[in-house]
Amino acid sequence: MSGDAPTPVLFDCDPGHDDAVAILLALGSPDVRLLGITTCFGNCAVEDATRNAQRVLALVGREDVPVAVGAAGPMRGELALGNYVHGVSGLDGPDLPEPTVAPVDETATDFLARCLTESPEPVTVVVTGPMTNLGELLAERPELTGRIREIIFMGGSTERGNHTPTAEFNTFADPEALDVVLRSGVPLRMVGLNLTHQALATPEVVERMSAMPHDVGRTCAAWMGFFGDSYERIWEFAAPPVHDPCTIVPLLDPDVIGWRNCFVAVELDGTWTRGTTVVDLFDRLPDHEPNVAVALELDAERYWDLVLAALDRLGSA
Ligand code: RIB
Ligand code: CA
Repeated sequence: MSGDAPTPVLFDCDPGHDDAVAILLALGSPDVRLLGITTCFGNCAVEDATRNAQRVLALVGREDVPVAVGAAGPMRGELALGNYVHGVSGLDGPDLPEPTVAPVDETATDFLARCLTESPEPVTVVVTGPMTNLGELLAERPELTGRIREIIFMGGSTERGNHTPTAEFNTFADPEALDVVLRSGVPLRMVGLNLTHQALATPEVVERMSAMPHDVGRTCAAWMGFFGDSYERIWEFAAPPVHDPCTIVPLLDPDVIGWRNCFVAVELDGTWTRGTTVVDLFDRLPDHEPNVAVALELDAERYWDLVLAALDRLGSA
């Protein structure tokens, strides 16, 4: 938060339109020091997610931020991809510059392990795609849990799903990886669909993006156009929920989201419910202690003020 030293952040994502806005939010926020990006399959194949992350960095002249290529598929189970929402490229819509810098020459888990080890302080890890990279890291290197300040992840829901009637896409795509993280003892904050569906890019919000006198605003407005068409076609939303920046805003303003500590588990075996997050909002499972701070309320006006200010700051730099 303002006045304190910037929070060091490692960002694991599957860009993806809302991931792309979250990357720009992080880059445009002085309270965040982005140490690097790791990519994962999810909204599209990991090769496309990587190219998309690099194109977003190239758009704002920040190819100095290292990008490490992550998992091409889940720890177990079938590969699920979200191109039906995000398009063939995973970030369809306006043209973007092509990357001029290659990803780093190490795997995402090796990159994460090195950054966590080398950091003089514990690092905040933000995850806005399937949890595969963190699941593999914590399964292979459990001693690194003490180097992680917290994991803030977009995933799951206290209510319905989206990819299936009960399961949110990120948790459906790799429930075993989320199970590892839920059992890891790392401090966790979960931003589920119940929260992100309050973060709608309404026509007024998109107009504020379009009115910015630079490519960052205009590009985000165009992304909202494509993303919004998908959400209207598939889930009958009048305006698209911009999920992933909801993981970053708590680092900018502690009051923008209300949280509740709950026991959270993920279903691994349900015939109809695999990937569903089970959130014990009312302590109905007394043998299971709370392991996650679950996001419940969003101050949507403050959220958009924070996001749009960061986009304008970045675009005007
Ligand atoms: O279900 C929404 C989540 O899945 C978002 O993170 C979106 O980018 C996709 O990864
Ligand atoms: Ca995502």
